[in-house]
Amino acid sequence: RRPMTVPGLAEARVEGRRLAMLTAYDAGFARVFDAAGVDLILIGDSLGMVVQGRSSTLPVTIDDIAYHTACVARALSRALLVADLPFQADATPGRALDASTRFLQAGAQMVKLEGAGPKLEVIRFLVEREIPVCAHLGLTPQSVLRFGGFKVQGREQAAAERLRAEAREVAEAGAALIVLEGVPAALAAAITRDSAVPTIGIGAGAGCDGQVLVMHDMLGLDSGHRRPKFVKDFLGEGGSVAGAARAFVEAVRDGSFPGEEHSYA
Ligand code: KIV
Ligand code: NA
Repeated sequence: RRPMTVPGLAEARVEGRRLAMLTAYDAGFARVFDAAGVDLILIGDSLGMVVQGRSSTLPVTIDDIAYHTACVARALSRALLVADLPFQADATPGRALDASTRFLQAGAQMVKLEGAGPKLEVIRFLVEREIPVCAHLGLTPQSVLRFGGFKVQGREQAAAERLRAEAREVAEAGAALIVLEGVPAALAAAITRDSAVPTIGIGAGAGCDGQVLVMHDMLGLDSGHRRPKFVKDFLGEGGSVAGAARAFVEAVRDGSFPGEEHSYA
């Protein structure tokens, strides 16, 4: 299989091929996920929770993401590597450019940042400087204090309208991909239909162009937190870490994951 590229994401959408994305934080798991056919690997700031054991993603640093990006990059031969801009690393265009440059020099091919509004300027600034950007909307974990917890977003009419507008705006600003997290399935499907760029869902139903899970959730590890509804343990049916990753990729490709039981109405 050919390596995934940024233009390849839009091509997959045109060809009706769903995109499978997993997080990874080290070379060992990344190599197995890459071989299993995962299209994108994310160095998520979720590492603050699943690797460092914290209760939110807010303490994660640029150094943390750069370190794990370098570890994972050495193991990949096909998957596109996306690195998260951690909390406030995207507060200004200049800060975002500095952090993103480090991540691309460590082997990332795209950076992801949360939100729209003041972030639109940041997205434009990065894209104009040859840094591909993935936007992340909905239940953005860096907004946990304002939300008062990890809560599904876009349930009221006004919030749904705002989310639809944000999805349009981030694509217009130049984002090549949009992660939709923790939003009702029908809303994510409507955003995907309207969107000029592919969407990747997590807790956003089956109507997105692809799906992402945190690797620990895909393997059914107990996080010490309440297990969210959208999580599925693929290790049982997969029988091994490699088998679980293959089962995840296959279930995303054939549309059997997420089911309604993993989605918000
Ligand atoms: O940090 C992360 O792992 C993420 C995904 C859940 C999308 O942002
Ligand atoms: Na993240």
